[in-house]
Amino acid sequence: MEITFPSDFLWGAAISSYQCEGGNYNCDWYLWEKSKNLQPAGLSCDHYNRFPEDFQLAKSLNLKALRFSLEWSRICPARSVFLAQEIAHYAKVLDKLNQLNLKPIVTLHHFTNPLWFSSASGWLKAKNIDYWLDFVHKTVSALKEKVEYWLVINEPLVYIYNGFIRGIWPPGHKSLTEAAKVLKNMTRAYLLAYQEINNIYKHSDIKPQVSLAKSLRLFTPCSGFDFFLNCLAVSLRNKLFNFDLLDNLARKKALDFIGLNYYCIDYTRFFSLFGGDFKYQRAKTRKNQLGWPIDSQGFYQVLISLKKFGLPIIVTENGTTEKEMPLYQDYLSSHLRSLAKAYAKGVNIKGYCWWSLLDNFEWAEGFEPRFGLINVDYKTLKRRPKLFSKNYAKIIKANKLTIDNE
Ligand code: BGC
Repeated sequence: MEITFPSDFLWGAAISSYQCEGGNYNCDWYLWEKSKNLQPAGLSCDHYNRFPEDFQLAKSLNLKALRFSLEWSRICPARSVFLAQEIAHYAKVLDKLNQLNLKPIVTLHHFTNPLWFSSASGWLKAKNIDYWLDFVHKTVSALKEKVEYWLVINEPLVYIYNGFIRGIWPPGHKSLTEAAKVLKNMTRAYLLAYQEINNIYKHSDIKPQVSLAKSLRLFTPCSGFDFFLNCLAVSLRNKLFNFDLLDNLARKKALDFIGLNYYCIDYTRFFSLFGGDFKYQRAKTRKNQLGWPIDSQGFYQVLISLKKFGLPIIVTENGTTEKEMPLYQDYLSSHLRSLAKAYAKGVNIKGYCWWSLLDNFEWAEGFEPRFGLINVDYKTLKRRPKLFSKNYAKIIKANKLTIDNE
């Protein structure tokens, strides 16, 4: 069966500031890398200076949308200091995207915080939300005429899980009480930002589309003597990690669409509820370079599970890092078939972004993983589209996909 997508379907790719821009020395991740002796992001892809070339490459791959993030610590390097030249930089980035007909999808918070904010206890303190709102107010007001799609926060639960439960990301804490506090504060920060953005656009001709990028996994119980406990863990994780926040924001009518980040399935075991996610997975599932169990059916099922919200969906991230080139192609085509299948089943999907446009800095894993459609040589900074990106370009051009009849 052939599935044709609407002509305004947002075929795109995503990036984030800290991972690509280079030269960000004012945020908590910079300090974290130093203190943990991790590979530093440093210059990364130097996307801050090379964005025109990168967007031209995106255009040459027929992309129609580009998701990127604003670096809060760049715009606001000290408390209450807003650098006009940095806001102007992002205005130029947006002008370039709009000029190339690449629809911007702009993230306001993608894991990094300004140093001054994190040293004032960051998201742990409810009163710090005011600083965040100041940033939202200043940047959205300045850029509003150039943007329709806003993602307020990227993957709040991944941020909290890694930074406040596992302690492997800044601030490196391991406390459930703190995790709960941060979730409460980030939820409030989201709701207030949602309101603020709508206020800012009150007299504009643009109706802003505001959401967050929410990571969802297909939790699947591991078999074994503890199967029943594993099923219990699946329903707990589904609630805590996948749906509670979305349910809450949807109930409050604070989602204009759902931004979905999907990468892999999660074989769940009760006794590893707080850590060791991938230790107990079934051996038969293919794993990518980072050991993530790959399952495109999981993508289909997650998309179907979002149908209940009755909201449009943009896949704000989906992708992989592999040692062998054909595996990128496998991942792309099987996941796009799942996307088309879900679309055919009535899931209101408006767009799909591959993570990532460029190979980039993969947080604690450094530069070894290569998620990009475009290869970056970190010595020369030369860009070269990977083979599988040509297939993506072909699919975008055709704007249709063939799936099995059921
Ligand atoms: C994040 C990206 C990250 C990607 C691959 C997502 O969770 O938003 O920043 O690079 O996954 O790990």
